[in-house]
Amino acid sequence: MADFVPNEIDARFFRERASKHLAINVSGISKRYGAKQILTDINIQISEGERVALIGPNGAGKSTLLKCLVGQEIFDHGEIATLGTSLRAKQPVALLKNLRRSVGFVFQTHSLVGRLSALSNVVHGFMGERGSWRASTHHLAPYSWRLKALRSLGDVQLQDFCEQRVDELSGGQAQRVAIARAMVRDPRLLIADEPSASLDPAAGEDIMKLFSDLSQKNQTTLLFTTHDIQHARSYSDRIIALQQGKVFWTGPSNLFDPDLSAALFR
Ligand SMILES: Nc1ncnc2c1ncn2[C@@H]1O[C@H](COP(=O)(O)OP(=O)(O)OP(=O)(O)O)[C@@H](O)[C@H]1O
Ligand SMILES: [Mg+2]
Repeated sequence: MADFVPNEIDARFFRERASKHLAINVSGISKRYGAKQILTDINIQISEGERVALIGPNGAGKSTLLKCLVGQEIFDHGEIATLGTSLRAKQPVALLKNLRRSVGFVFQTHSLVGRLSALSNVVHGFMGERGSWRASTHHLAPYSWRLKALRSLGDVQLQDFCEQRVDELSGGQAQRVAIARAMVRDPRLLIADEPSASLDPAAGEDIMKLFSDLSQKNQTTLLFTTHDIQHARSYSDRIIALQQGKVFWTGPSNLFDPDLSAALFR
């Protein structure tokens, strides 16, 4: 009995300490679309500051899982805690404004406003804080936002292009603007769904390096999906492989070898 009490306290202490340092804690989540099972009993823990690559064949459920993590999709079973915000099964897709404010998103296609300048687009990263800025240019935005947006464009080496219209930029440059927009609020978590998929190999490599450098510099947790195993190996600390909605493999990136790759994509 004398031993039991301290051990129990130790266990609780370490459990609580561990959960405080988790950016993402996914416990047994499952999801269906109609009759189709998409995700099955997913358990994932991602520490703050960790860089994680989510890989897997088309239709494995990667994008669906990312949406569940930020409350953009309902799931049927299990529980998720993202940056300490608890998301429960069957909870209606909520606005979760506070959570989304702490998360930066980058997608395969950049979803910027082409007719507006790079700077205006980055200022749009603050959208929602004061009504809709969709139609506005950065000239109407508060000075502090513009300063932060300029700093963010500097981080992606585009300060000289701040007044350039986005539809006059290359795909790689536009994707860098999207990264600047995602980073402008200093998010604690950066989620990127195939950020390099629409780019040529050199530009794709640049984008992945940028993500990795920025997340390390700002200690931002990074979770990205990719079909490029080399990107996953080079730019993450850990790989999580999904196959048919289940975790197929997880471990340090440098241990993901060609045999695993062949089995995953067979
Ligand atoms: N809104 C939806 N309604 C019904 N089924 C959907 C919906 N969104 C995705 N699915 C299905 O869920 C499965 C997983 O899709 P998801 O987009 O998560 O896969 P993915 O791993 O991101 O694939 P990819 O590598 O092609 O991006 C697919 O079979 C897809 O058809
Ligand atoms: Mg996808």
